[in-house]
Amino acid sequence: MDNTLNPAKKRIVVVGSSNTDMVVKAKRLPVPGETILGGTFLMSPGGKGANQSISIARLGADVVFVSKIGNDLFGMQAREIYKSEMIDTRFVFTDEKNPSGVALISIDTFGENCIIVAAGANMSLTVQDIDKAYKSIQEADMVLLQLEIPLDTVEHVVDMAYDLRKRVILNPAPAAHLSEKLMKKLYAILPNRIEAEMLTGIKVTDRESARKAAGIIRGKGVDNVVITLGKEGAYVDGMGCGALLPGKEVETADTTGAGDVFCGAFSVYMSEGRTLTESVAFANAAASVAVTRIGAQSSIPYRYEIDMN
Ligand code: RIB
Repeated sequence: MDNTLNPAKKRIVVVGSSNTDMVVKAKRLPVPGETILGGTFLMSPGGKGANQSISIARLGADVVFVSKIGNDLFGMQAREIYKSEMIDTRFVFTDEKNPSGVALISIDTFGENCIIVAAGANMSLTVQDIDKAYKSIQEADMVLLQLEIPLDTVEHVVDMAYDLRKRVILNPAPAAHLSEKLMKKLYAILPNRIEAEMLTGIKVTDRESARKAAGIIRGKGVDNVVITLGKEGAYVDGMGCGALLPGKEVETADTTGAGDVFCGAFSVYMSEGRTLTESVAFANAAASVAVTRIGAQSSIPYRYEIDMN
């Protein structure tokens, strides 16, 4: 559904990627140069931007998704899915030259994954495209980004949203070096262990290393830092709180997209005016549902499924 947002709900603009995931589950992940036999092949919609948008829509806020797809079957299917999730697709642009993004995903028996993304049209989302969504960003309660689109486009969104006094949340995935100029304009950053190491040089293995890494990131000017630690939960630093908030113990089937559910859930709760720790507890609970299911978007829970106890 386009352009029919509910005025009572919070409104979040997500700027990011749209992919189709090609998934194979195997007993273990192959080492370089090795061929192994896997299980059944699964093709399903994904992309960090799209997964986070759908998470937000299912968890209770309105979403404007700014993205770029190819003029192909995958792109058409993706657009239909976003519409069926009641996401505003006015700024899901079509690239006539490049194909839609594709992700090759391997999953082991513990549900851990390896992902290679052929970004395709995602990499042609330009600053000019962003300018077309200016009014939606101006009307947003929050802006959420990841790094599967060009970095100069991300920087442009952050500059624009900051100038408009909007709260900007960045999930810095895939891992990349970021300028302090960009970091200073972020309201919150949500890296996983690998991304936190890229940003700080600290190998995040436990509570203490997470605390140190979070402190370094805060020192670069980000108000709120949440380092996601998989089944161990998340380390939170901000709003006067520094703590490890444990995740729920569940049987993991597939971790793909669980980080995206975490980011979406966190953004919804923050946009509703909840505290940092309340938002992380909600995000932990939502991600713990997602990991019990296979696939990225197919595993995203609805708000009524989240058990906060
Ligand atoms: O975070 C999971 C997502 O990363 C997958 O859906 C894949 O498309 C890649 O973008």
